Amino acid sequence: MPKKLAIFASGSGSNAQNICNYFANHSDVKVVLICTNNLDAFIVKRAKKLNIPITFITKTELNYFINLYKKLQNAEVDFIILAGFLLRLPTIMVEKYPNHIINIHPSLLPKYGGRGMYGDIVHKAVLKNKEIESGISIHFVNQNYDEGELILQEKCSVSANETLETLAAKIHQLERKHLPLTIEKILKNHNL
Ligand code: GAR
Repeated sequence: MPKKLAIFASGSGSNAQNICNYFANHSDVKVVLICTNNLDAFIVKRAKKLNIPITFITKTELNYFINLYKKLQNAEVDFIILAGFLLRLPTIMVEKYPNHIINIHPSLLPKYGGRGMYGDIVHKAVLKNKEIESGISIHFVNQNYDEGELILQEKCSVSANETLETLAAKIHQLERKHLPLTIEKILKNHNL
């Protein structure tokens, strides 16, 4: 039986798409559900094109969790990926899926993490502080933003003439390469 993934995304969903493409013909892993809190986000169009069921949840439904939990159970979801999902998960959800939820963050945590730190806001702060390196962090999710146990970090250089666009492109490249591979590795070693 393949392990079943749900992907949560709030924005463009390029990571979600990349994960879906990577596992499209995989014998051991299947993306069964995409979940978003933003009906206007591009991830909605991607999900339709990918032919993967998409479910919409409000912040209240996420926090109440019971109905969402039913949907996750009906889809027999084993593992959850937060790929640009911008709401904090309720404690009850983290408790139902201990070490079964991972998040990707576009910086070298604990730097540039926490509430309000996402996407380009992170890159702008990195450039403003004249960092010489940045990167990505993949980690298990706990109740606090960007604080769970680290699984993988990959670095890239930040040059003196780096722009928001070039830094974002470097980070996306790292995300594209490492997120599907890391998911595959975890699921292989994980006793689900
Ligand atoms: C990604 O860069 C991801 O690391 C980041 O949002 C972007 C989503 O892009 N996540 C966070 O900042 C979480 N705090 P995408 O919608 O194109 O996949």
